[in-house]
Amino acid sequence: MVNTVGRLSGRRALITGAAGGIAQETARHFAREGAQLLLTDLDAAALAPLVDELQSAGAVTVTASADLTNRSDVEDLIACGEKELGGLEILVTCAGGYTSYANFEEIEEEDWDGTIELNLKTVYLCCKAVIPLMKRAGWGRIINIGSLAGRSTSAGTSPAHYATAKAGVSILTQYIAKDVAEFGITANTIAPGTTSTDRVRRVLTPDRETQFVARTPVGRLAEPKDIAGVITFLGSNESSYITGATLDVNGGRLMLT
Ligand SMILES: NC(=O)c1ccc[n+]([C@@H]2O[C@H](COP(=O)([O-])OP(=O)(O)OC[C@H]3O[C@@H](n4cnc5c(N)ncnc54)[C@H](O)[C@@H]3O)[C@@H](O)[C@H]2O)c1
Repeated sequence: MVNTVGRLSGRRALITGAAGGIAQETARHFAREGAQLLLTDLDAAALAPLVDELQSAGAVTVTASADLTNRSDVEDLIACGEKELGGLEILVTCAGGYTSYANFEEIEEEDWDGTIELNLKTVYLCCKAVIPLMKRAGWGRIINIGSLAGRSTSAGTSPAHYATAKAGVSILTQYIAKDVAEFGITANTIAPGTTSTDRVRRVLTPDRETQFVARTPVGRLAEPKDIAGVITFLGSNESSYITGATLDVNGGRLMLT
């Protein structure tokens, strides 16, 4: 049953990297709050179980494959939002990540370029392409996913190219926020701490987890729902006076680093 009185009722949302843990949980939250969804990942086939779940719960959900480092893929994606949903008012950019840890001097140029493209260029391309639709709607919410890694070097767990790109997401989002405020559009960054997604679970050793938790006042890693709840708030009317902010969602770890 579609929720017609939810906090996102009547809104149409694009969520990128939707096969990933934070994005999947965000899609569930958005659907519960009444949003219609355009979900995208490199291979949209990977989204089938999530789409079944959301559609069974009554949510309007469409999917599209896209490599978001590629401008024409992004433009096709936004055109899909216009065609299938009639527009888009919310963008959540979850696509991102890095392949492996390396110290700065070990980062090869190709890996540098790829990581900056995946974490920063994708945000630039998606924001640029979606803003005209938000302007047309006279309302918009851009929620870009940064990282604790982009907030402090002393978090000390991520490679320099990834951290640099995520720091770039925060300042890029501020520039966007400044330019689009007059059109009823806000733009904010969320900087999660280590979040217990399947990907993180696959690489995190018990020792590493113990170290992270010891440096986190709240005393645990984030669950995807901890991040998705904040994204949902930023996507709603309730956040209308917040723009250009980076919200640190890390259980207090940043203040101890
Ligand atoms: N999980 C964490 O601990 C954590 C912490 C801080 C920030 N983040 C950030 O949050 C976001 C989501 O994290 P997650 O752990 O849920 O990620 P995840 O790795 O589970 O999902 C990322 C998704 O992005 C997709 N993707 C990769 N390259 C793409 C491309 N070129 N075009 C389109 N899609 C592409 C992947 O297929 C994947 O499904 C990422 O940006 C990540 O950097 C995660």
